[in-house]
Amino acid sequence: MSDKTKKNIKKPWGGRFAASSSDITERISASIQYDARLYRQDIRGSIAHARMLKKTGILTAAEFTAIEKGLGEIQKEIEEGRFEFSASLEDIHMNIEAALTERIGDAGRKLHTARSRNDQIALDLRLYLLDEAASIDPLLASLVAGLVSLAEEHIDAVMPGYTHLQVAQPVRFAQHILAHAWALLRDRERLARAAKACSASPLGAGAMAGVNYPTDRAFTAAELGLAGITPNSMDSVSDRDFALDFLYFAAVLGLHLSRFCEELVLWSTAEFGFIRLSDEVTTGSSIMPQKRNPDLAELIRGKSGRLYGNLIALLTMLKGLPLTYNRDLQEDKERVFDSVDTVKLSLEGMMAMIAGMKVNTDVMKQAVYRNYSTATDLADYLARKGVPFRQAHEIIGRLVRHCEEGGADFFSLPLQTLLGFSEHFGEDIVEILNPESSPERKLSAGSTARGEIERQIAALREALGG
Ligand code: ARG
Repeated sequence: MSDKTKKNIKKPWGGRFAASSSDITERISASIQYDARLYRQDIRGSIAHARMLKKTGILTAAEFTAIEKGLGEIQKEIEEGRFEFSASLEDIHMNIEAALTERIGDAGRKLHTARSRNDQIALDLRLYLLDEAASIDPLLASLVAGLVSLAEEHIDAVMPGYTHLQVAQPVRFAQHILAHAWALLRDRERLARAAKACSASPLGAGAMAGVNYPTDRAFTAAELGLAGITPNSMDSVSDRDFALDFLYFAAVLGLHLSRFCEELVLWSTAEFGFIRLSDEVTTGSSIMPQKRNPDLAELIRGKSGRLYGNLIALLTMLKGLPLTYNRDLQEDKERVFDSVDTVKLSLEGMMAMIAGMKVNTDVMKQAVYRNYSTATDLADYLARKGVPFRQAHEIIGRLVRHCEEGGADFFSLPLQTLLGFSEHFGEDIVEILNPESSPERKLSAGSTARGEIERQIAALREALGG
C-alpha cells in the first residue's frame, strides 16, 4: 500500500491542540498499514449510519445522497489501487472521512454526527469477521466433504489403530479419516457460534455513553443485516469477546489440523509408508536427492502456534483494560487478520494434500499383522465362552508373552498351541485371529464396522447439507 504521508494534515481533533503530534506518536498510532483491509466494512457501516441519519431527519436527503455517492467512489478508488492512504490520518476511518470531505465538503463533515470511532471500529470488526466467517465456512465444509469421500473410497482398507502410538487394534482407514472429519465439523459449529456473536450492532453507542441524538439503532442494524443491537453503550465499545470467539475457533481448528498433519507426516515416512503425498505438495532437498519432504503438512502443523498466539495475545491485551475504549484495543486487528489469513491458507493446503494423496492400502494391511493387534478379540472370544474377562485377559497376556519369547507368529498360532493356554479355544479361533476381519467384529454404535461407517458417512453428508 502506498503510504505517502501528507504533511500538515489537520487532525479531526486539531482544535484542541497547539502543537502537532511527534513523529513517534504518529508511527505508534498509525494502523492504516493494516486496517485498510477494513475499507469495505467501514464504508458499508458509514452508508448504513448515514441512511439512518437521513431517516431520523439528522441529515437531509441531499446530504445523504452526496455521502453515499462519495463513499461509493472512494470504494472504487481503493479497489482500483488509486486511493492514497495517509499514515498521519492514522486509520481507515479517518482516511476515508478525510477523502469524503475533500470530495463533497460539509456533507462529509456531517457523517460522523452521532458516531464515534469507538463504536465505528467495533462495528467494522464485527462486519469483517462476519464476512470472513462466510468465506471460511465453505472451505471448511469442502475439507470435511473431501474427507468423507476419501473414507468412502477406501471403506474396506484396514490399518492399525493406535493408542500411545503403539499398534492397538485393527480399524478401517475410513474410521480414522472420519474421526478427523467429525472434529472439523465441530469446528464449523464453533465458527457459526463465533459469527453469531458478531451479529449485533454497537453503532449508536458513540464514544461510550450513547449519543445526543434520537438515533434509530435498530434501523442501522437491520440495514447491515445484523441480528440486533448491543444492549449497553459502554459494553458496546469495550467488548471484543466476539473477536476472542473467532480466535478460539481458529486456535481449535489449528489444533485439529496440526494433529492431522502430524499423522500425514508420520504416514508418509519410509517407516510407515501408509500414504504418498503428491509431488505438488512435497518439496525436495537441496542436498539429498532422494528426499520428498511433507513441508505443507509441517507448515500447517507449525501454524497452529500462531493461531494459539493470536488468541493469547488478545486475551492478554484485554485483561487489564478499564472500561471503556482504550487505544490498546487497536492491537486486536493484526491478531484477528493473521488468524483469518492463516485459517484460509491452512484449509486450502489441507485440501490440496488430501486431493493428491495416494493411500497405500497394501502397506496398511500388512501393518495390522503387528503387535498382536487382535489380542483383544481373543480375550473377548474367551469371555464369550464364559471365561471372566479379567481371566481371559490374563490368558491372552501369557499367550502374547509366549509368542514374544519363542518367536511364534501370533496370527497363525495352531489350535494345538492355543489349547495349551485354555480349553475353551475351538476351530473358530482362526477367524478371530485374523486382523483383517477384526473391524467387523465391532458391534457398538460409532464403531469401525462397515455398517457404522456407512452410517457416519450419511450423517456427515446430511450435516453438510446433502
Ligand atoms: N483505529 C482505532 C482502533 O482500531 C479506532 C478507534 C480510535 N478511537 C480513539 N478514540 N482513538 O481502535
